[in-house]
Amino acid sequence: MFTITLDGQGVEVAPGQTVLEAARKLGLDIPTLCYLEKCTPMTSCLVCLVRVSLDGQSRLLPSCATPVAPGMVIESETAEVHDARRTALEMLLSDHVGDCLSPCHRICPLRMNIPVMIRQIETGQLAGAIATVRGALPLPGVLGRLCHAPCENGCRRGTLDQPAAIREMERYVADHDRKQPQPYLPPREAATGKSVLIVGAGPAGLAAADFLLRAGHGCTVADRHDEAGGSLRQEVTAGNLPPEVLASDIEQIRRLGAQFMLRFEVGRDHPLESLVGAYDAVLLTTGELARCKGAPGGLAVTPTGLKVDPVTSQTCLPGVFAAGSAVRPVKQLVRAMSDGVAAAACVHRFFFGAKGSRAGKPFSSVMGRLQEGEVNLFMVGPSPAGRLSPSGGPQAGYSDKEAPLEAARCLHCDCRAAGNCQLQRYSQIYGADPGRFRVQRRRFEQHLQPGDVIFEPGKCIVCGVCVHLTQRASEPLGLTFIGRGFDVRVGAPLNHTLSEGLQKVAAECVEACPTGALAFKTARTGLNLPCHGLAAGPLKCPGCGPD
Ligand code: SF4
Ligand code: SF4
Ligand code: SF4
Ligand code: FES
Repeated sequence: MFTITLDGQGVEVAPGQTVLEAARKLGLDIPTLCYLEKCTPMTSCLVCLVRVSLDGQSRLLPSCATPVAPGMVIESETAEVHDARRTALEMLLSDHVGDCLSPCHRICPLRMNIPVMIRQIETGQLAGAIATVRGALPLPGVLGRLCHAPCENGCRRGTLDQPAAIREMERYVADHDRKQPQPYLPPREAATGKSVLIVGAGPAGLAAADFLLRAGHGCTVADRHDEAGGSLRQEVTAGNLPPEVLASDIEQIRRLGAQFMLRFEVGRDHPLESLVGAYDAVLLTTGELARCKGAPGGLAVTPTGLKVDPVTSQTCLPGVFAAGSAVRPVKQLVRAMSDGVAAAACVHRFFFGAKGSRAGKPFSSVMGRLQEGEVNLFMVGPSPAGRLSPSGGPQAGYSDKEAPLEAARCLHCDCRAAGNCQLQRYSQIYGADPGRFRVQRRRFEQHLQPGDVIFEPGKCIVCGVCVHLTQRASEPLGLTFIGRGFDVRVGAPLNHTLSEGLQKVAAECVEACPTGALAFKTARTGLNLPCHGLAAGPLKCPGCGPD
């Protein structure tokens, strides 16, 4: 045994061990994609790079394949090492063909996981559906009626016929929940003891309150009007929003713990300066403050509203934040709400000493516009029917029978492995840019062979893990590398099917695949997709197996 130095710590190692094994002994999380325990290192991904210094020489080396040596000094968390790992990930993503998140999910300003909601509607799991909807949307009944639905503009189903009726389905879920004796209340984090005053009970203020309450902070929402709702009250007056829907959505925020102070005018009756010390943070979300009455408390202004730091949402007064129409006019309801949520996230970070920056976007590989014929691969399973309008008219919304029928039109564009994929996870952690080395993308392919396993070659990083596993298990056929150079791919030898190659260790290969290249056909966030038996043309439904 001897000692090496890893990130400044001494660690005792045995000859023959690798740097990766030594790092794991210390609990360090060095990323790996092609590493398989007790196998000869394949060193195909290079995301496990570390800087190794020994005998006056210093190099970046793959930790999974570098044996330890006496006197070795290793750095695993420097900016240089992170850059090298990011570059390795970006190389792997350069010809990756897949969408971690569906186009609709990426477009939704509140980042709702739309395909998950749709699968829950389709399978009758409405308790799960409201948790999905409420997890992202602060006022679901309101948004289900008034959102301008940018997600539908990006819906892939729209390239075939008409987009999925996402907003209508969202409304169905919200309305179903509203009729329950006790509507769904999202979970709250443990109380932090922090208090926030939100000025303005309109869409941005209510959305911010929802976020902060769920994060465990105390929230008081002040508004100079008699009732909460802000501009949404005009929608009620115009007949676009039933008053009971607005009242119920606001009530859910009250149930989360919001205190409302109505007929309370900041500036005139209550100087901002006197409120700042009474709360741990103040968030201004009403445009009236800046534009009509002049900025309170000497806050700096721009031609459109209060001046804020674009990264932290903070005004020139420490602990005072602004969002929504307090900063600039916001026409779209969902954008006002996402503004409120983003500023609330800044307040939350401010409390915990982190830089009050806005949260980054979730990582997603993006397939982009589909090439000719590719959309047909997505149509294996979904209903070919056109977009369904509520039979009772737009005021009625979908019935219990109609909502699952519309849900069945969704193409489920999100990756089966999303949330469980190491390539996605590390790309998020290291801030990889999937477009940095982008080459012309390969065609999207799905090998829908008999059996339960599905193979998407465009997501395969040719790490070799599955090939090793089949060799280790002495599969009669197993998997192998086919082709050469950039065209190398993984498959069963001699034109056999994947299922023929994976007779013993299919589950192990799916489990060990670091991406979504190998997956079970029905693996969709724990939900089995019902087979509609509707696949048209030469393609067979993946749930139906062989012809
Ligand atoms: S395989 Fe991973 S990185 Fe690729 S699309 Fe799926 S989740 Fe995203
Ligand atoms: S088909 Fe479904 S998953 Fe795909 S973009 Fe449309 S709603 Fe989203
Ligand atoms: S299919 Fe095999 S070679 Fe391709 S990424 Fe998955 S485990 Fe690696
Ligand atoms: S090169 Fe080390 S895990 Fe891939």
